[in-house]
Amino acid sequence: MTETYRAFVVHKDDDTTRLAYEERPVPEPQDGEVVVQIAWSCVNYKDGLATLPKGGVVRAWPRVPGVDMSGVVAASRDERFREGDEVVCTGYDFGVNHDGGHAERCCVPGDWLFRRPDGLSLRDCMTFGTAGFTAALAVQQMERNGLAPDNGEVLVTGASGGVGSMAVAMLAKLGYRVAASTGKAEAAAFLTGLGAESILSREDVSEEPRPIGRARWAGAVDQVGGRVLAWTLSTMAYRGVCAATGLTGGPGLQSTVFPFILRGVSLLGIDSVMCPMAERGPLWSRMAGELRPADLDSMTTEIAFDDLQPTLTTILKGGVTGRTVVRLAGG
Ligand SMILES: NC(=O)c1ccc[n+]([C@@H]2O[C@H](COP(=O)([O-])OP(=O)(O)OC[C@H]3O[C@@H](n4cnc5c(N)ncnc54)[C@H](OP(=O)(O)O)[C@@H]3O)[C@@H](O)[C@H]2O)c1
Repeated sequence: MTETYRAFVVHKDDDTTRLAYEERPVPEPQDGEVVVQIAWSCVNYKDGLATLPKGGVVRAWPRVPGVDMSGVVAASRDERFREGDEVVCTGYDFGVNHDGGHAERCCVPGDWLFRRPDGLSLRDCMTFGTAGFTAALAVQQMERNGLAPDNGEVLVTGASGGVGSMAVAMLAKLGYRVAASTGKAEAAAFLTGLGAESILSREDVSEEPRPIGRARWAGAVDQVGGRVLAWTLSTMAYRGVCAATGLTGGPGLQSTVFPFILRGVSLLGIDSVMCPMAERGPLWSRMAGELRPADLDSMTTEIAFDDLQPTLTTILKGGVTGRTVVRLAGG
């Protein structure tokens, strides 16, 4: 009898999408491919977008969403991986133009996989997921551009979400003074628990920016974009560094050049998806060590595979706090 696995599948019919759990035959890996029994996945904003007919991330349907997974190699035709190896996949085309991690199995090019980092469980890897990796990239890029704890306060916008909460926790762990802006008044205690020293409202950071505002931030991790990024740039301190990671508030950016030419501010672009594999290993090792939030579990909600759909809907409304891991074979 053919072995099958369950997958959460997005179908597109005309201008709508239809979501369904389906049984599929377990694939045979082709040259260079690896089949993984998925233990854990997680929910990112991009996974929510993948369920929409015009989400802008999926181009061909049907598609299994899920840009992240961790699991155990079930079959391999890539000599670097053997049955039983514990592996992780984040980014590339996974869950976007290639079936992703919201399934019990996946078949991916070996080039997209890396081994579970020492010091992290397969579940921990998905608590971080793309969100944690992106926050770590942002911290690293800001440091490479001169940020240090003595430089002053660091702002994190959209702070209660995945990238935001990871950035708050990592920066606090490194000894930075963190200001967190959030649209959820009820998330203040959560953010303070992660190490934020001060809380700003979403309105505070969405004011019409002046060409150059009061100099406040030595660093900033922005995952909102739009007006919030423009305001953030206008309030960066002299030689401040601002990492742009996302667009939950919109893809546009209307700024002036004053922050750049009067204050020497740097706007740093962050991309986790195509980050070269050679850079991933060292950064994941750092995430297992000095960047590991003090209490990873306190930022994590665990859901069963069957409960995926409501979280995908909630994340699109900005309603998720912290990270959500999805239990597949990991329980
Ligand atoms: N560059 C990369 O490689 C990369 C990697 C991962 C994610 N991203 C992007 O980063 C963003 C965050 O992803 P995520 O997975 O962390 O999502 P998430 O968990 O949903 O977090 C997003 C947070 O943004 C805030 N927010 C939502 N709607 C907003 C609005 N209209 N205006 C202002 N703030 C709003 C909310 O936080 P508060 O309620 O606390 O304000 C929300 O929790 C997304 O745009 C995603 O595409 C980029």
